[in-house]
Amino acid sequence: MDKTALITGITGQDGYYLSKFLLNKGYTVYGMYRRTSQDPLLNINNFNGNLKLTEGDVTDMGSLLNIIKEIQPDEIYNLAAQSFVPSSWTQPISTAKITGLGTLNMLEVIRHVNPKIRFYQASTSELYGKIQETPQTEKTPFYPRSPYGVAKIFAYWTTVNYRESYGIHASNGILFNHESPKRGKQFVTRKITHSVAKIKLGLQDFFEIGNLNAKRDWGYAGDYVESMWMMLQQDQPGDYVIATGDTHSVREFIEESFRVVGMDIEWEGNGLDEVGKVDGKIVVKVNAKFYRPAEVDILIGSPKKAIDNLGWDPTKTKFKELVRMMVESDVKELSEKGLGDIDRGHLDANDSDSIYKCS
Ligand code: GDD
Repeated sequence: MDKTALITGITGQDGYYLSKFLLNKGYTVYGMYRRTSQDPLLNINNFNGNLKLTEGDVTDMGSLLNIIKEIQPDEIYNLAAQSFVPSSWTQPISTAKITGLGTLNMLEVIRHVNPKIRFYQASTSELYGKIQETPQTEKTPFYPRSPYGVAKIFAYWTTVNYRESYGIHASNGILFNHESPKRGKQFVTRKITHSVAKIKLGLQDFFEIGNLNAKRDWGYAGDYVESMWMMLQQDQPGDYVIATGDTHSVREFIEESFRVVGMDIEWEGNGLDEVGKVDGKIVVKVNAKFYRPAEVDILIGSPKKAIDNLGWDPTKTKFKELVRMMVESDVKELSEKGLGDIDRGHLDANDSDSIYKCS
C-alpha cells in the first residue's frame, strides 16, 4: 500500500494508536501537532515506519492549507480537539474554535485543495448527552450537555453537510468512551487506575472522585482506531456508532480496579459523604468539585451498523480486560520509576484535578 495519511491531534491517545495502526499497514503518516513549550511527542517518538511530524493548528486555516498542499494526503483523520469535557465550561469559546470551527477549517481546505481526500471526523457519544433512547444508534436524536458536546455537534453536521454539498468522502465515527494505558490522567478511568496503582504501592492514601453513579460504555482505544480506518475504506462515506453495547458505572470501574490489585473496596455513606474503604482505611472520597454543571448520566451504544457494514468487532476487549490492562500498566510504570523519583510527601495527590467552578 502506498498511501499517505494526515492525523491531527497526533499527541493524544487516539493519535498514538491510529498512527501505530496505519504505519503497520505501510502508510506514510504525517502527524500534526500544536507547538508548546514542552516536548509533546513522548508517546510516539520511537515508532518505526514512515512517521513525520508537522507543526500546525486546526484553528489556523493557513497552516492547514500549507500542510495539505505540501503533503497531498489520501486520508485525513481529524482527531484534534479540546477533548476534556470539564474544560469546555471554563473555556467554552476556545473549545468551540478548536473542536467546532477547526473541523470546518479542515473541510474548507479539503474542498478547495483536493475534494478527493477522504475525511474522518472524531465525533462522540457526548452528542447524545441527555439520552433520548437506549441504546443509542446513528438515528438517535442528539441532546448535548456541555459546550464540548455543542461544539462537536457543529463538527458532526459540518461533516455531513460537506459530504452532501460537495460529495466529499467524509465520515463521522461516533465513538463512545475508549480508554487505554495512554489515556490522559484527567479522564476518569486513568485517574482511577493510576490512583489505585499508587495506593497499592503505598505512594498515596486516597483519591477524590466526582459522580460515582455516571455510567459509560467503555471500550479499548486500540480496537476503536481500527474502525476509523475501516470507515475510510468504504465505497460510500457514512456515520457510525462505535461502542461495545455494555455499560458500567464509575463505581464499578473503581471496584474492578481495586480487585485487580487484590483489594476489596466497601462503600459507606451517601452522596457527598460517601467514602470507599479497604480494611477500614479510606481510599476514595467524593468531592463536589469533580461534579459537572450538567451531567451525562448514562451512555450505551449499539455498534450494529459498524458490525454489519464495516465488519468491525466490538467484542475484542471486554470491560474487565480493559481495567486490568490499565491498572497493571500503571503499577508497572510506577514501580519502574522507582520510589526515589516520586514525591512521597504528596500523599493525597490528585493528578487529575478538574478546576471549573459552577456558582
Ligand atoms: N474526569 C473525571 N474526573 N470524571 C469523573 C470524575 C472525576 O474525578 N468523577 C466522576 N466522573 C464522571 C464524569 O462526571 C463523567 O460522567 C464520567 O466520569 C466520564 O468522565 P471522563 O472520563 O472525563 O469522560 P467523558 O465521558 O466526559 O468524555 C470522554 O469521552 C467522550 C466520548 O468518547 C472524553 O474523551 C470526550 O472527549 C469524548 O468525546
